[in-house]
Amino acid sequence: NRHLLSTADLRREDALLVLDTAEQMARLSDRAVKKLPTLRGRTVVNLFFEDSTRTRTSFELAAKRLSADVINFSAKGSSVSKGESLKDTALTLEAMGADAVVCRHPASGAPHRLAGWVHGSVLNAGDGTHEHPTQALLDAFTIRRRLGRLDGLAVTIVGDVLHSRVARSNVWLLHTLGAKVTLVAPPTLVPHGVSAWPVDVSYDLDAVLPASDVVMMLRVQQERMSAAFFPTEREYSRRYGLDADRAATLPEHALVMHPGPMVRGMEISSEVADSARSTVVEQVANGVSVRMACLYLLLGGADERDEREVTR
Ligand code: CP
Repeated sequence: NRHLLSTADLRREDALLVLDTAEQMARLSDRAVKKLPTLRGRTVVNLFFEDSTRTRTSFELAAKRLSADVINFSAKGSSVSKGESLKDTALTLEAMGADAVVCRHPASGAPHRLAGWVHGSVLNAGDGTHEHPTQALLDAFTIRRRLGRLDGLAVTIVGDVLHSRVARSNVWLLHTLGAKVTLVAPPTLVPHGVSAWPVDVSYDLDAVLPASDVVMMLRVQQERMSAAFFPTEREYSRRYGLDADRAATLPEHALVMHPGPMVRGMEISSEVADSARSTVVEQVANGVSVRMACLYLLLGGADERDEREVTR
């Protein structure tokens, strides 16, 4: 596959190949091997039409660690503000020699459109409420590193599922990798089509936590809903927030995850976010290894010489 657009169409063997390759990348990093020559002479464009802290910087770091040239394009301050379309923006960047385009866009499906216009690989870095495949891959990588497996694990995803591309990508990927996913959300923040998803749905967080191996908290995305639908912070955190008392009902080995950005005091308390069972910071670090693996496999992984360089 030339692109990484979604986890819904990612086969189990391809997902495992990404996780195994990311493991190799992480081991090299642990051994202080900071840079590989694999993508020397290749150009990766970060094409971001929406704000990002983690995804943009970790794709940049991942590409640089593979020796690629990186162009960071942000819609703010570009000719997009003069009316230039996504297609013309992409073709302009391709004319400058982009081998891969990492795209974040507020419109669901934008990276799929892009993939039809450019010759290089397109990596979806989050499109609207649709998917965020590298986030799900780094989450799966983090779970497997901490708990040793994904098969048979009970993963609970809590919060604003309706607007969450992270939740969607995780649902498909975790299902493919054999985990059992339960969604917990206020009824107004459960997507309409959820009955077709391979998940259980609950409205009672307290009932689900004691049987969860992993609990993944989501931010309420107020920027994607009208003010009339904003839940009050107090009411929301009382029913769906993870505080220390609730976290104490989890099994001892259970992990607490959050893709970031977190709103401390709303969906998660500071005490829980900073606790030993929280993987929030680890997820960010693992994101670099996983994105290195994705770029490597899409742009350079088939080459035998590169294989030797990575496994050396
Ligand atoms: N998790 C995530 O996508 O974070 P950013 O929006 O900061 O990239």
